[in-house]
Amino acid sequence: MLPAFPAGSALPARGLLRLPGVYRPQADTCLLASAVRRAGVPAGVRALDLCTGTGALAIALARAGAETVLAVDLSRRALASARVNAALRRLPVRVRHGDLLAAAAGGPYDVVVTNPPYVPVSPERARPDRRCDAGADGRAVLDPLCEGAPALVAPGGFLLLVQSVMSGVDRSARLLAAAGLRPRVVARAMVPFGPVLSRRTDFLEQSGFVAPRVREEELVVLRADR
Ligand SMILES: C[S@@+](CC[C@H](N)C(=O)[O-])C[C@H]1O[C@@H](n2cnc3c(N)ncnc32)[C@H](O)[C@@H]1O
Repeated sequence: MLPAFPAGSALPARGLLRLPGVYRPQADTCLLASAVRRAGVPAGVRALDLCTGTGALAIALARAGAETVLAVDLSRRALASARVNAALRRLPVRVRHGDLLAAAAGGPYDVVVTNPPYVPVSPERARPDRRCDAGADGRAVLDPLCEGAPALVAPGGFLLLVQSVMSGVDRSARLLAAAGLRPRVVARAMVPFGPVLSRRTDFLEQSGFVAPRVREEELVVLRADR
């Protein structure tokens, strides 16, 4: 049986500096942080937190035993937040601006965690929110990430990825397997819609991402070993 969502557990946002516009750690962050703790991070490994936001997961990796953690994000405000949050805790986290390519340039890593944007967004939306919007099918970041996993994960290492069922967990697993990794689901949680999904229920219902009047989504953590 999969571990239950740690209901009522404190979100890892407590005490984290978050500059304006940076993603507030939420249920997905929390689910992935617990998966990191349960997976165990062998002492001395090199780790990557891709799409780091405040650095909440980079901090979880360092606390779990990683020797060094690289935190990568497209947002400079996110990186500034992550740098300060790690420094205040005296944790070995470095930050790098960029995307998958910037992360791969320093790789591969023994442990990779990522909470990427995965929310489907109407193509009519004028200005997508880069913190969470991921194209009409929610896969704009997930597809290249799963396909590019071998450049990130060292042989013998593993990746932990959180996403919504809405954006195709089976597809992620297929792409990871095609890339030569061994994916499996290690955590699931039903969570109520947050503010982002609540504002776009019409689009999600009309596009078939949720059934009418459903206002919760299932989050899944995939682990893929190489
Ligand atoms: C859903 S938030 C997750 C933040 C943090 N890891 C957490 O769990 O709280 C996604 C983050 O990815 C960043 N981002 C979006 N697209 C990206 C890309 N292609 N490469 C790297 N970072 C990206 C955003 O700036 C945002 O900080």
